[in-house]
Amino acid sequence: MSNHTGKWAGKAEAYAETFALLCAQLVDPLLDALAPTAGSRLLDVGTGTGSVARAARDRGCQVVAVDPEADMLAMAVQAVPGVEFIEDGLPGLDRVTGPFDAITANCVLNQLAEPQASVRRLTQLLSPDGRLAISTWPEVHPLQQLWNDVVAQAGAEVPSGAARSAAATGFERSLDGVSGLLSAAGVQLERVWAYEFVHRVDPQLWWSGPSRGVAWIGQVYRAQSPAKADAMERAYQRLSAAYLAADGMLHLPATAILAVGGRSA
Ligand SMILES: C[S@@+](CC[C@H](N)C(=O)[O-])C[C@H]1O[C@@H](n2cnc3c(N)ncnc32)[C@H](O)[C@@H]1O
Repeated sequence: MSNHTGKWAGKAEAYAETFALLCAQLVDPLLDALAPTAGSRLLDVGTGTGSVARAARDRGCQVVAVDPEADMLAMAVQAVPGVEFIEDGLPGLDRVTGPFDAITANCVLNQLAEPQASVRRLTQLLSPDGRLAISTWPEVHPLQQLWNDVVAQAGAEVPSGAARSAAATGFERSLDGVSGLLSAAGVQLERVWAYEFVHRVDPQLWWSGPSRGVAWIGQVYRAQSPAKADAMERAYQRLSAAYLAADGMLHLPATAILAVGGRSA
């Protein structure tokens, strides 16, 4: 059974062109931390348009990839041959048969209605020596702060369904919060760390994510009156200029939380 919120429904193309490029920057750090050997059985959960699945396949893994959104999967199936794709989601993953040597969930933990039950399910799908690697975004980091400032300067209201508090996401978005969530769900942690990088992106392309309803900022944008939505776009033009570099791209500093571990005894 999947208990997903449906907020990614119909967003595959807009996601692939925008925020997927941000999440893709975490693929190599996650897979490097797992270091799966060729032939390992790897499950990629919340695969979206398939970035992790592709990279894991290219490292010689036998990849099963799942997502509850049919249009995400349809894109992934086209883009990433050689991977078994299954329409399914956490916390149930009823259509998935373990065990797996490795499990990845890139930028998925903060999307889940039941994060603890979901991670527990992932640990059940691991082989006794299997390991999982996850990534998520902290509560505040510069790239997110830009969106927070856009919302504040436009005087936009955050709808209750888009709340980012610990109460809303089910865990605190910090190194301690992620460690606590994973440990309580049966993960023997090896490492939890902050991964810092710079996201280089065309300013118009980056705005085309929220304006098409993608991610948290897209949810907020879509909930506004036309006047407030215009105010958000104007605030973005003003505020993003601070990150514009000589190459015409925004250079947005970003931080992700990454974690890797195995099953608790
Ligand atoms: C930010 S995207 C990340 C996609 C992909 N992992 C990547 O690296 O590009 C979040 C993904 O989580 C999926 N998702 C949402 N709820 C889920 C659930 N309950 N179980 C599994 N995946 C879920 C969404 O459909 C979406 O594809």
